[in-house]
Amino acid sequence: MNNLTIKNITKQYANGVNALNKASLELNNGLFGLLGPNGAGKSSLMRTIATLQEPTSGTVSFNGVDCIQNPQVLRSQLGYLPQEFGVYPKVNAEDLLHHLAVLKGVVSKGERKDQVNALLEQTNLYNHRKKSVNTFSGGMRQRFGIAQALLGAPKLIIVDEPTAGLDPEERNRFLNLLSEIGENVIIILSTHLVEDVRDLCNKMAILNKGRIVVQGNPIDLTETLLNKTWVKTIAKSEIEIYQENYHVLSTRLLSGKTQIQILSEENPGNNFNIYKPDLESVYFSYLNPILK
Ligand SMILES: Nc1ncnc2c1ncn2[C@@H]1O[C@H](COP(=O)(O)OP(=O)(O)OP(=O)(O)O)[C@@H](O)[C@H]1O
Ligand SMILES: [Mg+2]
Repeated sequence: MNNLTIKNITKQYANGVNALNKASLELNNGLFGLLGPNGAGKSSLMRTIATLQEPTSGTVSFNGVDCIQNPQVLRSQLGYLPQEFGVYPKVNAEDLLHHLAVLKGVVSKGERKDQVNALLEQTNLYNHRKKSVNTFSGGMRQRFGIAQALLGAPKLIIVDEPTAGLDPEERNRFLNLLSEIGENVIIILSTHLVEDVRDLCNKMAILNKGRIVVQGNPIDLTETLLNKTWVKTIAKSEIEIYQENYHVLSTRLLSGKTQIQILSEENPGNNFNIYKPDLESVYFSYLNPILK
């Protein structure tokens, strides 16, 4: 069983932004979802774990080894798909994977060929292996990204917002790929999409403004809101009034009308209907925690 322990990570950038504030997490094998809105600090945390940047304070250890003191140990066991992959070179997918495999220390030619072929197959890119990666579509790029992250059989895999910008079919394909990677590694998936976590992860945390505001199992967290979430269709102009009087979790358009969801321990009356909470309810309850 692998173990990643993150303790009290704080990150202050040179411009004074506090991106992480005493974030602590403990992860074991399996798919872990890190959910948070834009600017929450997800990429900052991912880069810190990947040893691409040092925290201002706090510690990260992987299987008992301090990753800040000994980054090499973690790097040799890490697969990382950054949020921005940068420039895609004018090199075909197969050659690029071979090149990256060498950098990852897969030196035996035969072993490298086997791994590259297997990953091209697994990511459904085998038929496109002779195409230059800079001509790939968004979905193909992300699948290529996971292929390169899996080179060298890493024990810790970090994928930073991999589904952003993918159409529903490619998103499904990508998530299926992640779920097939196996139970013997730690996979950290960062995302701002509640569905990604709901469909895939059995452990999760919500990051908001640099703080881990909750962690646990998505189903357990959802159950904590049972009989406490209520919905009502209102006129758009009424939103403010409701916000003043209730703990509003979300407002959304539903067939052109506005549906608000509120949190209330008791039946709020006023024509609200009971709503079966979902992970989105949980997410909003931690992002909009103003209790009335
Ligand atoms: N290199 C940097 N220098 C200065 N500030 C930074 C740097 N990287 C990130 N930030 C700031 O730190 C905060 C957290 O950013 P981060 O990219 O970690 O969030 P995120 O959760 O990944 O957001 P997104 O969903 O938009 O990718 C933001 O306020 C951001 O502007
Ligand atoms: Mg990010």
